[in-house]
Amino acid sequence: MDVKVDARAALTALQVMRDAPVIPVIVLTDVAHAIPLARALLAGGIRMLEVTLRTPQALACIEAIARDVPEAVVGAGTARSAADVQACAMAGARFIVSPGYTHAVGTACRDAHLPLLPGVATGSEIMAAQEDGFTELKFFPALQAGGMAMLKAWSGPFGDVLFCPTGGITPANAAEFLAMPNVACVGGSWLVPADVLARGDWARVSEFARQAVGLPR
Ligand code: 3PG
Repeated sequence: MDVKVDARAALTALQVMRDAPVIPVIVLTDVAHAIPLARALLAGGIRMLEVTLRTPQALACIEAIARDVPEAVVGAGTARSAADVQACAMAGARFIVSPGYTHAVGTACRDAHLPLLPGVATGSEIMAAQEDGFTELKFFPALQAGGMAMLKAWSGPFGDVLFCPTGGITPANAAEFLAMPNVACVGGSWLVPADVLARGDWARVSEFARQAVGLPR
């Protein structure tokens, strides 16, 4: 946690990215898991938590973490519409991550005063996001869309952009991504595997988080 951020104060996208080397991408199907999971990640040193809107329980999970784990900074991932953003804001999400970029999502985040990490995979998408003032972007799906070679190519024309590569990042390749000058952090689901979650192995989650926090960047 490099940047000392008041867990309750307004955030910037840069603060979300700089807090730890990894933003965990979380899929929750049971609201009862939300609070112990958030505490386990916190215990391992990770507090920026991306809970994806991929399950019917996601909003209730965001709400539970926002209410009961104030030291965590819960955000919402997989936001694909203005309505998603508004629902996440109501649930207490503190930041938004999207798999792509639309002006509607960007505007909804501005209106809700929430930082946005919009997903991009092409130069045109970067330009659209930049046109709307977003310069901290999620590179998604990172490995599938070109990986480190793509980031290196983008560092020329888009030298003012910082990325959070997500999709295909693992403990084995995370350090290489983090060493790139235009990478501020990475995103990944490996900190919260479905089987570990299902058996409530919170110590394991804390251990994964500790290892992630120890990644050099
Ligand atoms: C996602 O949106 O699912 C993220 O990109 C996570 O990808 P991963 O499972 O490859 O980490």
